Amino acid sequence: MFSCLFWGACFEGIGYLCFVNVLLLGSGGREHAFAMKMAQSDRLNNLYIAPGNAGTAQFGKNVSLNPTDVVAVFQFCKDNQIQLVVPGNEDPLVAGISDYIEAQAAQEGLDIKVAGPSHWCAQLEGSKDFSKAFMGRHAIPTARYQSFALSQLDEAAAFMKTLEPPYVLKADGLAAGKGVIITTSFEEAMETLREMTDGSKFGKAGEVVVIEEFLKGIELSVFGISDGKDWKVLASAKDYKRIFDNDEGPNTGGMGAISPVPFADEAFMQKVIDRILKPTYEGLVSEGHPYKGFLFVGLMNVGGDPFVIEYNVRMGDPETEAIFPRLKTPMLDLLKAMAGGNLGAVDVALDSQTAATIFLVSGGYPGDIEKGKVIEFPNAVGEDQWLFHAGTKQEGESVVTNGGRVIAVTSLGEDIPSALLRSNTLASQIHFDGKFNRTDIGLDLMKYHTL
Ligand code: AMP
Ligand code: GLY
Repeated sequence: MFSCLFWGACFEGIGYLCFVNVLLLGSGGREHAFAMKMAQSDRLNNLYIAPGNAGTAQFGKNVSLNPTDVVAVFQFCKDNQIQLVVPGNEDPLVAGISDYIEAQAAQEGLDIKVAGPSHWCAQLEGSKDFSKAFMGRHAIPTARYQSFALSQLDEAAAFMKTLEPPYVLKADGLAAGKGVIITTSFEEAMETLREMTDGSKFGKAGEVVVIEEFLKGIELSVFGISDGKDWKVLASAKDYKRIFDNDEGPNTGGMGAISPVPFADEAFMQKVIDRILKPTYEGLVSEGHPYKGFLFVGLMNVGGDPFVIEYNVRMGDPETEAIFPRLKTPMLDLLKAMAGGNLGAVDVALDSQTAATIFLVSGGYPGDIEKGKVIEFPNAVGEDQWLFHAGTKQEGESVVTNGGRVIAVTSLGEDIPSALLRSNTLASQIHFDGKFNRTDIGLDLMKYHTL
């Protein structure tokens, strides 16, 4: 093992001297994509993934460590000379991992950086009420809203009567992507509100509920990166959240993604920059909380105008599996610049091809699923094609299913149809009992190619 003697200097631009030990937190397809991209750097020394999956294990060592146990994560960093921590999902960020690790490291004279935002900034994802109030303070376009607790049901009913159905109810806190209820029935909305605010539906996360206006349009996500001083647009992507074709059935973690989004053209992206990204990053600085890390802005395109549906303080899954294969900038450079305050010196370069990602999931997902099904893989994967593991586990000689979302299949192509054809063909060569995938990923976007 080669330990870096010059880590402080790494962040000041002589990174070529340094070999870096990295701890990546998470276990999804997103983390497989992070691990793969980081492993392309010859300056990566040791990569640990907590807890990881069978895909991340190809690039580093999976370790049994709870990512939200910030004390244990810091101890692990000390024991393994980690210099960079990369949180994949939101839980450790909302738990305050960035502040804790960097403060402890400073106290002990260690240089450990975290490529993710502070606890304060992570409230943009951790609390819907917080993020709506932030958008209000900075005139960032979003749906009209008010927040209510159990003692305010009459006021909530009065506010809902000012809105056109459908009604959108959002649990304030983190609810594993399930905290948004949309219904056209006023009575059902009131009943749901009661169940949320009394804690019976989402526990503490639902005790405050944001009720907001329904936005009619087409969704997309735009990702930004920043180091607290400079910020840049990373890419656009569109996720497909429902389990069945035509956006039917329950919400999932995401069944596929396309990047870039054809209707997010230069004019639309300029509106996103001027009306949303700029006021968001500048607003955070003006409130004394500069943002460092990836920022995921969920948007609704309403007749050509972008409105924020939500902020997430991390990359998306499966958007990452579509965006990272397009990324030409070395991942480790990007992460180090983000964590170390040097992003201004790094160019973000993306392949202009389209990426199409299709998730293969276990039968029954997002409800009850069976694990442990042996996965059969094709003998070879083509150029510019990737299989990102999510719910998978190595069991002896076999890789078996270990979760709802199992494998994300990504291909690049010169347009959506060609990327999709490649991904669908590859997806059909993977087998496990109960395998299911959507067959309409990207089809809604085809028409924009001809505009
Ligand atoms: P969120 O967890 O806030 O991203 O919401 C989950 C999903 O609910 C989004 O991806 C949208 O499809 C939908 N949604 C959330 N807020 C609204 C809104 N104000 N209008 C229409 N759809 C919404
Ligand atoms: N794909 C949605 C998310 O990562 O939250």
